[in-house]
Amino acid sequence: MKAMILNEYGHDAAFAAVDLPRPEPGAGQVLVRVAATSVNTVDTMIRRMGQDELPLSPDLPAVLGMDFAGTVAAVGDGVDDFRPGDEVYGCAGGLADLPGALAEYMPVDARLIARKPPSLSMREAAALPLVGITAYEGLTRANVQPGQKVLVHGGAGGVGHVAVQLAQHFGADVYATGGTERSLQAIRRYGVTALNYRAQSVSDYVDAHTGGHGFDVVYDSVGGANMASSFEAAALNGHVVTTVSMVELDLTPAHFKGLSLHVVFMLIPMLHNRGRAEHGAILSRLAELVEAGVLRPLLDDSRFSMQDVGRAYQRLESGDAIGKVVVAVES
Ligand SMILES: NC(=O)c1ccc[n+]([C@@H]2O[C@H](COP(=O)([O-])OP(=O)(O)OC[C@H]3O[C@@H](n4cnc5c(N)ncnc54)[C@H](OP(=O)(O)O)[C@@H]3O)[C@@H](O)[C@H]2O)c1
Repeated sequence: MKAMILNEYGHDAAFAAVDLPRPEPGAGQVLVRVAATSVNTVDTMIRRMGQDELPLSPDLPAVLGMDFAGTVAAVGDGVDDFRPGDEVYGCAGGLADLPGALAEYMPVDARLIARKPPSLSMREAAALPLVGITAYEGLTRANVQPGQKVLVHGGAGGVGHVAVQLAQHFGADVYATGGTERSLQAIRRYGVTALNYRAQSVSDYVDAHTGGHGFDVVYDSVGGANMASSFEAAALNGHVVTTVSMVELDLTPAHFKGLSLHVVFMLIPMLHNRGRAEHGAILSRLAELVEAGVLRPLLDDSRFSMQDVGRAYQRLESGDAIGKVVVAVES
């Protein structure tokens, strides 16, 4: 089968086209013929940092690519839920010892996948798994309720645009930040209030939209130092969700507000073989929401084939993409 591999790690490490043996599905696995994959920030971190700095990086030579959409080609022993020909999607490899989606075929744990939403193309479906699970897990852990005020930081980003749509679906009054006119426009298209984090201070938008009380839930898809802004924006006894907490930060503001902090790390089921069926269940739920018309992945207007994957990584790293960067694997 055709695949793109990395023979070394590093910022400019090149992907190389190779032929690899077609894998067989093991017990509990399905073999997926991959149609498309999407690029996530963690993929670019793996390529840049490698095992020395990011131990979850696979051994070299490495087949990266976590998200995929495709068609079941074969099923292994003990798999009853899927059969050849099923169209599926998931986030199931490209890290540690799990082979990735930059290949014609990918063996995946059947618990990590679900049937692809029929109304989405393969490219659209490949955009959704990692960011969709991350958004869903964070909002449900924060127990978002109808009528609550929810602020999403990075509302035009991969995680953020799904969090905006899901928070709306949960009945919340939704606000989202972005820093460019293109991001703000993308946010407004969801019918929520767009806040320019470059032009407005936290206290300004907290005063303007919450009467100074703060947001019940802040979904921070930017994280890091931005968590200080999230603590400032949250209401007393509010919830802050973060996708990036690898940072030293003073928690005093969170203390005096009695905040609950939810750290989402959606790679845990893949890395530790724990809670994998939960990811399959979330993907099934997200597919239902897509079919119900409440969720749609936003794709960047760039298009890449598997041979161009290096340029797809550059596109995400440029910060210019709006929504998800997708790579077509099947030509
Ligand atoms: N822990 C996990 O399980 C997990 C899962 C998924 C993602 N992540 C992490 O979460 C982060 C976001 O991922 P992603 O896929 O959504 O990335 P992305 O598609 O690149 O989106 C990032 C968004 O953040 C916005 N942004 C940047 N600085 C901001 C600020 N100070 N305030 C508000 N918005 C800001 C950008 O908008 P502008 O261009 O308008 O500034 C952009 O839309 C990444 O660091 C990723 O590694 C973690």
